[in-house]
Amino acid sequence: MSNKLYSKIAGTGSYLPEKILTNKDLETMVDTTDEWIFTRTGIRERHLAAEGEFTSDLALEAAKNAIFSAGITASDIDLIIVATTTPDKVFPSVATILQRKLGIAGCPAFDIQAVCSGFVYALATADNFIKTGAAKCALVLGAETFSRIVDYTNRSNCILWGDGAGAVILQASESQGVISTHLHADGNYENMLHVPRSETGRDTVVMEGNAVFKMAVNTLDQIVDEALAANGMQKSDIDWLVPHQANIRILQATAKKLDMSMDRVVVTVDKHGNTSAASIPLALDVAVRDGRIKRGDVILMEAFGGGFTWGSALIKY
Ligand code: COA
Repeated sequence: MSNKLYSKIAGTGSYLPEKILTNKDLETMVDTTDEWIFTRTGIRERHLAAEGEFTSDLALEAAKNAIFSAGITASDIDLIIVATTTPDKVFPSVATILQRKLGIAGCPAFDIQAVCSGFVYALATADNFIKTGAAKCALVLGAETFSRIVDYTNRSNCILWGDGAGAVILQASESQGVISTHLHADGNYENMLHVPRSETGRDTVVMEGNAVFKMAVNTLDQIVDEALAANGMQKSDIDWLVPHQANIRILQATAKKLDMSMDRVVVTVDKHGNTSAASIPLALDVAVRDGRIKRGDVILMEAFGGGFTWGSALIKY
């Protein structure tokens, strides 16, 4: 009889485009101040893709870094899942474009669209492929060029978003890695945070910021309880919170719920802004590379986004 299979994070990688848009730059574009943005959101700057630079380009660099850090070669990959809301084209998927750019062919490759919760959705999906034996070595990414769907004349919205990509290599293992994942959605909130089709052809994010903020804080409360209860764990069992990076005040509220000091929360929102599906794997890679997150640490990832969608992943790194 074979042993129980787990999926384990074998390597991480990320990539941020070169161009930086600071709050000071935004002061010249809309009626705002660095102080207002920083106080309300915790954001100082964000990266923006260059003209002609697409989500698959950011994904490729993040993937290469994750492949290197896992000590594998691209040909070992037997599943590619990209969480994105800003694909290069309507179709084919970023995952298949990335597959070509990695020089591999044959393995399944597809995108997942769950906006800011996308990476947790993608990770949960890959975890299930691995646990059932359908894949052994998955490349899972969150990659976005969100700046392409932002209205840079809307000051209460354009200050939030950034571009980037993060990746993990998830491998089959007999020792515990992904402990549990929990996914949810409620389509009744479609119009609170969405990108409607516009007549001009340039579709941009429309959001009821304040209402989304309140929903996010309340929902994240339940997410934390659900993940802990499902595993009979205590708040004190969590070493690191790696949350979706939407707004520092949302992160602080979640940390408070976990009785966690902010130095156990990986915060990148100040430098990355909200990169939607890319924010969790970007934050994970930052904290793995700077040595904060170590093998054996227990990590809670959580996210909330358009739909609404929300979810969490509890992981032993
Ligand atoms: N600079 C200066 N003033 C601004 C501004 C800006 N960039 N944006 C909005 N304001 C003004 C508003 O016009 C409003 O002025 P008024 O009171 O004279 O009408 C005032 O600031 C308050 O606006 P409000 O929209 O209520 O601000 P807020 O405190 O809710 O902050 C967000 C706005 C967007 C930062 C906040 O709602 C938020 O972060 N929401 C969650 C968004 C999110 O995380 N979405 C993604 C989920 S994945």
